Amino acid sequence: MVAAGHTYAQPNKSISASLGKIRFDFMLDEVGKPAYSVSYGTKLAIKKSYLGFALADDSAFYKGFKLLSTDRKQADENWTPVWGEVSSIRNHYEQVTVHLQQLMGQQRLLNIVFRVFEDGVGFRYEFPEQENLNYFIVTKEYTEFALPTDAKAFWIPGDYDSNEYAYSTTKVSQIDNQKIVNSSGDIAVRVVPDRYSVQTPLMLKSDNGLYINIHEAALLNYSSMQLHVDRSKFKLTSSLVPDAVGNMAYLHAPCHTPWRTIIVSDKATDILSSKMILNLNDPSKVENTSWVKPMKFVGVWWEMQIGKSTWSYAKSMNNVDAQGNLIPSGQHGANTANVKRYIDFATKNNIQGVLVEGWNTGWEDWFGNWKENVFDFVTPYPDFDVPELTRYAKSKGVSMIMHNETSGSATNYERQLDTAYRFMNKYGYPAVKTGYVGKIIPRGEHHDGQWMVNHYVRVAQKAADHQVMLDAHEPVRPTGLQRTYPNWMASEAGRGNEYNAFSEGNLPEHETILPFTRLMGGPMDYTPGIFKLKGYSTVPSRQVHTTLAKQLALYVTMYSPLQMVADLPENYDAHPDAFQFIKDVAVDWDDTRILEAEPGDYVTIARKAKGKNNWYVGGITDEQPRTATINFNFLPKNQTFNLTIYEDGKDSSFNINPESYNIRKMKITSKTIIKEKIAPGGGFALSIELN
Ligand code: NOJ
Ligand code: CA
Repeated sequence: MVAAGHTYAQPNKSISASLGKIRFDFMLDEVGKPAYSVSYGTKLAIKKSYLGFALADDSAFYKGFKLLSTDRKQADENWTPVWGEVSSIRNHYEQVTVHLQQLMGQQRLLNIVFRVFEDGVGFRYEFPEQENLNYFIVTKEYTEFALPTDAKAFWIPGDYDSNEYAYSTTKVSQIDNQKIVNSSGDIAVRVVPDRYSVQTPLMLKSDNGLYINIHEAALLNYSSMQLHVDRSKFKLTSSLVPDAVGNMAYLHAPCHTPWRTIIVSDKATDILSSKMILNLNDPSKVENTSWVKPMKFVGVWWEMQIGKSTWSYAKSMNNVDAQGNLIPSGQHGANTANVKRYIDFATKNNIQGVLVEGWNTGWEDWFGNWKENVFDFVTPYPDFDVPELTRYAKSKGVSMIMHNETSGSATNYERQLDTAYRFMNKYGYPAVKTGYVGKIIPRGEHHDGQWMVNHYVRVAQKAADHQVMLDAHEPVRPTGLQRTYPNWMASEAGRGNEYNAFSEGNLPEHETILPFTRLMGGPMDYTPGIFKLKGYSTVPSRQVHTTLAKQLALYVTMYSPLQMVADLPENYDAHPDAFQFIKDVAVDWDDTRILEAEPGDYVTIARKAKGKNNWYVGGITDEQPRTATINFNFLPKNQTFNLTIYEDGKDSSFNINPESYNIRKMKITSKTIIKEKIAPGGGFALSIELN
């Protein structure tokens, strides 16, 4: 319906912007509903898709708009990340802001800002300051992403509290959380609130040959966007994670939503080299970042994951002596002598950090009990000598990494943040790994809702105030905020290598999908580097579904500036020649080249170490063997390099002899091209040093 005296001028007339092959069109339809579409060259990537909201006091904040005015803006600049995959990033875009006003009712204002890059589009909603909109509640966001045809999707279910899923690969028309089919044909059922919902980053490959990645950038003071799937229309609609009473976001104008992002190309490699999500985030809020230093680290960690030792000091809470003190079980991993062993190993192998989990009291009864005050983050168990370990680590030139498991009790953690971070400063811990296992307290809040989104950012800010680097486990998946908080270096926020310890494990394809999905938003603490791939668990059927060489390759293909060297020291000591690659590989880069990639099948990436002439290459495949082609034309001309190849043994696959590998050396120049055979579930790693 149209208010008397008003007409919608020129319905469906588009306002467009384009850059390179990307073009976007914005329009208002005949009833004043805002919509957009995106194309790549002559191909349609997103067809006409509607935009808008329901607010608590206006269920129709998606129609009846007229266009007030349009602003345009361009930028083409370069910026330098504190750390990253490349040392300089080009931010080149064309921006259009459409200023809209509702014709009826409260005549509210809404702006929609579109930024068109050469690799995709970002858009967000702005709620300008206005009399009739002050504090308000979003009850629904209606942003659509309508695909022109059925597309292949790499997806995980729309769970509000976990992103630790294996990926399903199906057509959009077949997405169903009650029928999750993975590449080994297993069918699982997931009970999530919406049977037809998926999480982002969502990777799509359309029938017209386009690769499309849908996600969001700069998720601040808003809830995470999941997507509801209309299977017959191939249409995805924003489905925000609710709070405890079912509202989606509490806002105060002037304000804006996060950016909704669509990265598009006809080449899969372009998706992996896109910097659009980082470009849509604000520059660093941390002024002095000289203390933010990428590093590798070992940890008293895998030994607990595989059941060799425990996080807890006593067997259970009930094992107490007459004075009420816990009786040690003799299984406690975080004891001073054992930690010193890891410090020695780190020093010997030039690894900068040592993470220790299970050092503070509370682990006897932390899991799944939904209790508020399990941990205090400053009280060590009796066998963990903090001052002595501080002294010892310092004398060996190694950094200790703090562990703060909150067991989902974010309220408890917030109350103790100052105490916890002062403790880290006092004992010289430059980094912390946080964790949010279990249900969130405050009750009813979700890991991915607005309340927790704000919590993770508060923690990153607090850590920055104390000059502490952060690695968050079980948070909402990243959206490029590492640009704004460069000390928030990594997150788990996905299904890591640890699933090989406590479940039947990750399939060989898993690591070929993650770069296109989870890692689009930021670095992942995947914890690579497992060398003992079978027989490590008390459950004999458990195994890591990769070869050893593939574990090496992950140091390059799974980008993180905090990279764990996850296996036990003794398992590395058994393969010193292969371990050499982990010792050598960099964690911060000047340049990155995506050499070959196809989601779900294979990835080969070359990276140049920051400030050095050395390059490292990682190549991985799924359960299929393949031959990778590496053209060294990315190397500077007229120079000879020493190449070391770490490759799968001739007899190896993820199933049979996964620990068999071969190392060989040769001389190469920028003119060299090699073919590298990869075993099923295998990979290879190359180290390239100037002669
Ligand atoms: C789950 C984390 O992913 C893992 O790394 C950690 O060891 C446990 N929680 C205990 O905090
Ligand atoms: Ca986890």
